[in-house]
Amino acid sequence: MDFLADHVLPQHGEQRTFRVWSAASSSGEESYTLAMVLADKLGEGRWEVLGSDISTRVLDKARQAHYALERVEGIPGPYLKRFCLKGTGRQEGTFLVKPELCRHVSFHQVNLIKPLPALGQFDAIFLRNVMIYFDMETKRRVVRSLLPLLRAGGYFFISHSETLNGVNDELKMVRPSIYRKPGV
Ligand SMILES: C[S@@+](CC[C@H](N)C(=O)[O-])C[C@H]1O[C@@H](n2cnc3c(N)ncnc32)[C@H](O)[C@@H]1O
Repeated sequence: MDFLADHVLPQHGEQRTFRVWSAASSSGEESYTLAMVLADKLGEGRWEVLGSDISTRVLDKARQAHYALERVEGIPGPYLKRFCLKGTGRQEGTFLVKPELCRHVSFHQVNLIKPLPALGQFDAIFLRNVMIYFDMETKRRVVRSLLPLLRAGGYFFISHSETLNGVNDELKMVRPSIYRKPGV
């Protein structure tokens, strides 16, 4: 996320909507943290985050945008203050992501190993901690099928414990776990 904040977003012109896809979003923490970074750097401007997962159960949880406070490790303190509401009374120990942030975030069910729906193109795709579920051939197929949905010059993020070595050589590594689609 630091790379997105410090290197990608400052280069973004205002002309079109900046679109990010969290392609195995689980219960939405990654999607909302991305939304906080985008709101911080691009303000109320044109940007959106799509979160998707195979599991409707985790997507229902994601849409609620309501979490236990112990789930906040990944969210910097200032973002928590600015973009979240701390629960009181019966909601003590929880927080809710503010509706103005949620307006930019949507969730859809997508099975990455099936033909993908028409989701449009993205400036950045996050495929973190899901390739562990796939064998090598499935990893190759999944990454290949995501590439048409990434804009030329767009960024592809995986987790620090993963690599695209032997999975895909179309994407060019810019940092360990961060790749870029050539073409600009
Ligand atoms: C460990 S979570 C990753 C959450 C988040 N990306 C992160 O790094 O914190 C993995 C998610 O992948 C989802 N998943 C597993 N197989 C999938 C598939 N074929 N298509 C889409 N999502 C899948 C699981 O439902 C789970 O929510």
